[in-house]
Amino acid sequence: VSDVRTIHIGLLGLGNVGQAVAAVCEATRGSLIARGLDLRILVALVRDASRSRNCVGAETVVTADPDEFFAQPLDVVVEVIGGVEVPLAYVTRALARGIPVVTANKSLVAAHGPQLARLAARTGTTLRCEASAIAGVPFLGALRQRPLLARCDRVAAILNGTSNYVLTAMTTKGETFERALRAAQAHGYAEPDPSRDVSGLDAADKLVVILQHLGIGGVVADEIETSGIDELDPQDLTQAGVFGGTIKPIAFAIVQEERVSAFVGPTWLPESHSLARIDAEQNAVCLHGPEIGRLCFSGPGAGPEITAGTLLDDVVEVAVSSNAVCAADVTPDRVVHATTPATPWFIRIDYADQAPDARDVQELLASFGIWIRRISDAAREGRVYGITHTCARAQLDASLGALRAATGCTYFACRALED
Ligand SMILES: NC(=O)c1ccc[n+]([C@@H]2O[C@H](COP(=O)([O-])OP(=O)(O)OC[C@H]3O[C@@H](n4cnc5c(N)ncnc54)[C@H](OP(=O)(O)O)[C@@H]3O)[C@@H](O)[C@H]2O)c1
Repeated sequence: VSDVRTIHIGLLGLGNVGQAVAAVCEATRGSLIARGLDLRILVALVRDASRSRNCVGAETVVTADPDEFFAQPLDVVVEVIGGVEVPLAYVTRALARGIPVVTANKSLVAAHGPQLARLAARTGTTLRCEASAIAGVPFLGALRQRPLLARCDRVAAILNGTSNYVLTAMTTKGETFERALRAAQAHGYAEPDPSRDVSGLDAADKLVVILQHLGIGGVVADEIETSGIDELDPQDLTQAGVFGGTIKPIAFAIVQEERVSAFVGPTWLPESHSLARIDAEQNAVCLHGPEIGRLCFSGPGAGPEITAGTLLDDVVEVAVSSNAVCAADVTPDRVVHATTPATPWFIRIDYADQAPDARDVQELLASFGIWIRRISDAAREGRVYGITHTCARAQLDASLGALRAATGCTYFACRALED
């Protein structure tokens, strides 16, 4: 190719993903040069510059000094530090100078995406975050560029590979939560501290990022009803199958004009649901809308190499985009707040002694305002399972609380979806 343009990249962070960006950049150089672009990592910012870094060549400056980093002639900044406050300062500094930024950081985008996108628009540059939600599946860019696709009114997704791996192992191998989580860690799917994965906080951040790409700002991850998968036991997963479905770690939102009703947590789905067969570390997002019907994207949600590939594709996109395209970035057009939807519920009730028979449990629950659609027939070892009709969380909590006060039972409830 006669006309090859060199793109100078500044890499914020050289950890798991940063090293993979360096490796994938090297491995794909030939094919990108054939397309007229030579991506070069000019500089990397780290915490500890004294550690030797074999992952980058001698031509890359590795520094812990932000001023030295920003003194380089940068065409694109790639942010893979993680967290919120530290990268916010650097990303703001880059965008304020008109340097495009590409990030894999859902926490940063969930907390500050709209504000950063507005800054980018003011300085005529762009912020890309395709790798921040379902890192291996490029769908956010499609939402950004296609307004009718983004006019969707329902999102149902599996956004955390660790949680999905754990629940799949509990379902198919009868593993306990703890053993399944250790296996996920051994495979490298879980973070060293997997608490954000299993609590649903990671998925809540990603759901906020997706909503931003639907033009909705104002939803704060902390406001989304979030429950973890750590209260489930293997028998729950077996019973989910007896009820003709499975339990998956779901992020869900109904989008209306004035509000978004959303939740993140383990959810019973019928076998026929598009997300019921998304197993192990795979992720997926299903969008429903008037123009698109039901549309599902699925694929790997994490992994350093996969994430690095998506980040570098974002770099290429930024490098070949005109400013006019960049300006059409994600700046939410309406601000709404999150509430919780009414749904059916998958419930488990444990009695200290023998449970009453199924019909009595059903009648008792009805007297507390909960209508049961499915109930397990044998109340073995004092345990009864059911699936309720649609009701709000407040009503479910009040009714099960009254049942507990009347009978001394304990209970667990997670959401259920119909289709
Ligand atoms: N892992 C995945 O599969 C995956 C997938 C999608 C998205 N992500 C996202 O990618 C991002 C990076 O993840 P990671 O696993 O690569 O993290 P990591 O291994 O912890 O790497 C973080 C890097 O940032 C540097 N750093 C930390 N604090 C710094 C500071 N104050 N100033 C300058 N540099 C600092 C560290 O420097 P030192 O090397 O000196 O410690 C390290 O190089 C996160 O936002 C994560 O959510 C990861």
